[in-house]
Amino acid sequence: MSWKNHPKLELHLHLEGAAPPAFIRQLAFEKSIDIRGIFDAGGNYAFHGFDEFLKIYEAATQALQTPEDFRRLTQTVLEQLAEHNVIYAETFVSPDFCGGGDLAAWRDFLAAMQDAHVDGVTLRGIVTCIRHLGPDVAKGAARCAAETAGDFIVGFGMGGAETVGQQKDFAYGFDMAREAGLRLTTHAGEWRGPAEVAAAVDDLRVERVGHGVRAIEDPDLVRRLADHGIVLETNPGSNLVLGVYNRPEDHPVARLRDAGVPVTVSTDDPPFFHTDMTAEWDNLERTFGWGADDFAQLNQTALDAAFCDAATKAELRKRLEAT
Ligand code: ADE
Ligand code: ZN
Repeated sequence: MSWKNHPKLELHLHLEGAAPPAFIRQLAFEKSIDIRGIFDAGGNYAFHGFDEFLKIYEAATQALQTPEDFRRLTQTVLEQLAEHNVIYAETFVSPDFCGGGDLAAWRDFLAAMQDAHVDGVTLRGIVTCIRHLGPDVAKGAARCAAETAGDFIVGFGMGGAETVGQQKDFAYGFDMAREAGLRLTTHAGEWRGPAEVAAAVDDLRVERVGHGVRAIEDPDLVRRLADHGIVLETNPGSNLVLGVYNRPEDHPVARLRDAGVPVTVSTDDPPFFHTDMTAEWDNLERTFGWGADDFAQLNQTALDAAFCDAATKAELRKRLEAT
């Protein structure tokens, strides 16, 4: 059986990373942008390993230039979410790809994203700084986040190359976002080990961690995450394609959950990793034998950990209970 029609929540989805290859090809064609080298013979994104992934990812974003491009992208992504019955998603959006950190431009891009709409899918944004661009650029992203915090922008986070710099280098930006009322998450424990996850919690005071899976290598840290209810936004399909783990059964999502850590499951950058939320759930069933009770728990954890307001959560809870 497939879990396609079951309602789902997704907390870790990069907006540009959700752009289908055909969408990027179409935009590049319309604008005469040279995107040679980013696709393979089958028309898919072509990369091996994380460094090449980031390069191809950033090359693809060059086709995304105007607020209207982002409206079209958001519309496309919402339609894909609806196809897999994702009723609520949080998407990472980055001022660095939307006007280069300029606040007035950022407001225009955000307004355009919010013009996209699909019945039955609620979307919220997490402003994301890019680690390998450094702390100063991140401060600009945090300022954009703080100035636009509200109904749509509910969080602040960090993606990019985890092997560059330290979490604490970005504390200023994260403090600025927290003081503006935003909720916090950062990528950690995907490429570096458990110490990086501890640094995310201690130095940036995040309540969720993107990936975080390598926490499994330190049992004391696993206990700490469980005791403090730090939520992991795991992305098993992404980890397999990028080579964090070699076999589905090696992925620690089930062991982390069984140790009491609140885990959620998302797609990260679905067309890059040939995945979607249905495939993620079907793989969890195939690999770990998860069934209806496990997926109900997964949805409940995601709902509790969502950064949206209480009224939105109450509506989502009603929709989950109706199925
Ligand atoms: N940006 C998009 N996907 C990412 C990932 N898996 N890790 C870090 N940064 C990212
Ligand atoms: Zn990610």
